[in-house]
Amino acid sequence: MRTEPFPDLDCPTVTEPASEHSPQSAQAPTGATLRRGPFREGDRVQLTDPRGRMHTISLEAGKQFHTHRGHIRHDDLIGAPDGTVVTHSSGSDYLALRPLLSDYVLSMPRGAQVVYPKDAGQIVTMADIFPGARVVEAGVGSGALSLSLLRAVGDGGRLYSFERREDFAAIAQANGRVFFGADHPAWQVTVGDLVESLPATVEAGSIDRVVLDMLAPWDCLEVVYDALTPGGVLICYVATATQLSRVAEATRDHGGYTEPQAWESMVRGWHLEGLAVRPEHRMHGHTGFLLTVRRLAPDTEAPARKRRPASGAYGADYTPHEDEWTPEDVGERTRTDKRIRRVRRDVDRQAQSAPRDASAE
Ligand SMILES: C[S@@+](CC[C@H](N)C(=O)[O-])C[C@H]1O[C@@H](n2cnc3c(N)ncnc32)[C@H](O)[C@@H]1O
Repeated sequence: MRTEPFPDLDCPTVTEPASEHSPQSAQAPTGATLRRGPFREGDRVQLTDPRGRMHTISLEAGKQFHTHRGHIRHDDLIGAPDGTVVTHSSGSDYLALRPLLSDYVLSMPRGAQVVYPKDAGQIVTMADIFPGARVVEAGVGSGALSLSLLRAVGDGGRLYSFERREDFAAIAQANGRVFFGADHPAWQVTVGDLVESLPATVEAGSIDRVVLDMLAPWDCLEVVYDALTPGGVLICYVATATQLSRVAEATRDHGGYTEPQAWESMVRGWHLEGLAVRPEHRMHGHTGFLLTVRRLAPDTEAPARKRRPASGAYGADYTPHEDEWTPEDVGERTRTDKRIRRVRRDVDRQAQSAPRDASAE
């Protein structure tokens, strides 16, 4: 085992932990102070009942959380430590915890379908999103992925998010405000189509990473190439194999990117009880596929592939699509405008009553 510090690294070998009163903690990253300490008014709290069912509430002094068997007083939770067990008026015990980011994105108001936490984790790691990075994201949808990206780039980074629907962008921003307790200083949301808006928003060659979660990422390859710094990573998240195939071929045809890499991830929960230790019976069988490429240096061609495509891969059955796709073509569920207006009202109300991160003001 290596015990010596690495001699060639220009960094201190001992790092003083930040005490609660040190200048480091006075400038806690945006939203960090809301993630610890006793429950406060306005906090979202996840209650788990004796049967394992979860209920998310926002704490308000004097209010009660009602079930068909009775109630829990919010006042019993305000001021209590995270991880408290609170007694329901029926005598049952409920566990109270502050939701994690992964809990929050699954319970927050939605306009569009969200990126699931398992995929957000893959995106942050495999696209190498680092603190201080300048990242472009489109579309924003409900803002689920934006929250993970903002955490990864931190206050010193930059997340340029693009969404062509004004109502979705507003829902995403309100979700961000509730989660971080403030407008995140690294986040700039532009309402507009990425192809038109990106060149006007960022300087050519200045972007480290691009994340596309949209129906037709192949339409954006040219503007993304211009925005990315050489060596920069593009990651695409698509729902169907037909989209995956089209974006892979489009990156090859473009010529300015490395050979695409694609994968999917499956997460299978396990049941843990005494000797009954086995996979859960139910799982999310499919969420989406991920594909990454890197931008080549200017005037550079990718080296010829050593392995030729299988004969027939581009045969008579191979028909590159020229037509425009709709969300229905790939089986996306679309929500009515009336439902979106209701989601937007709910999330605005939540954002107004959510606790503020005073350190961000
Ligand atoms: C599946 S949603 C994104 C979900 C989001 N990543 C999340 O985690 O909440 C896809 C979004 O992309 C937007 N979109 C599609 N094409 C776009 C484009 N060319 N420019 C900007 N937004 C686009 C759609 O309006 C839609 O809201």
